[in-house]
Amino acid sequence: MSRRPLLVGNWKMHTTVVEACQLAAAIRQGCSDLEDRDIMLAPPATVLSEVSHIVHGSGIILAGQNVCWAAEGAFTGEISPVMIQGAGGHAAIVGHSERRQIFHEDNAMVNRRLCGGLAQGLLMILCVGETQEERESGQTFAVLAEQLRGALDGVTPTQCARLAIAYEPVWAIGTGLTASGGQAQEVHEFLRDQVATLYEKNIAGHMRILYGGSVKPDNVDQLLAQPDIDGALVGGAALDAASFIRIVHYKA
Ligand code: 13P
Repeated sequence: MSRRPLLVGNWKMHTTVVEACQLAAAIRQGCSDLEDRDIMLAPPATVLSEVSHIVHGSGIILAGQNVCWAAEGAFTGEISPVMIQGAGGHAAIVGHSERRQIFHEDNAMVNRRLCGGLAQGLLMILCVGETQEERESGQTFAVLAEQLRGALDGVTPTQCARLAIAYEPVWAIGTGLTASGGQAQEVHEFLRDQVATLYEKNIAGHMRILYGGSVKPDNVDQLLAQPDIDGALVGGAALDAASFIRIVHYKA
């Protein structure tokens, strides 16, 4: 089954308006030759609108780094799906391990966010991943299965067309440690099987499953060469235009 590759730059809590516009402009220019893959940027919400003017017409998709389930209301500090759309975004990330670990978001909250974003028509990226401790104690697959089951509760088969999963092993994020192609492939295959069990084989076959965790220009090719790795969710290396442009130009 062929799946259109998706390369995402998650800028996390980096960039002022000026820095974000420069970075987005450089990425736009450096990726203008590519038509066979999707490119997505997730800048901080404070710069989404400005960045949307920079990438307008390029095909680059903009995403929020998180999203609230409600369209509006008394949710201090939160950003709604409608606000993301109003600022020029069409997508959102949920369940990032930094949200789970630092801000204690659990599977139930990730599920609410995911359902809210999907209901509003956003393209959603659901992050899952095990910690080093969980991996070492042999719990990797159990943790991932539970994260997936919990987050996908109530998500309809039709909505799955607007969903991608990102496998981000917590021990590989920002550490310089990367899962090997084989290690990541084993998990991606498992995740696809889980989606097939929760929904059906055809939905699993179309689902894009991205890898994230210290993706760099020098390891992206071997990761993306794996049959079940359909793209990358990039943190640190996405803040350097040349690195991100090289990653997007991966050679599988
Ligand atoms: P790094 O690429 O910096 O390891 O971050 C990965 C990540 O968390 C992307 O969402």
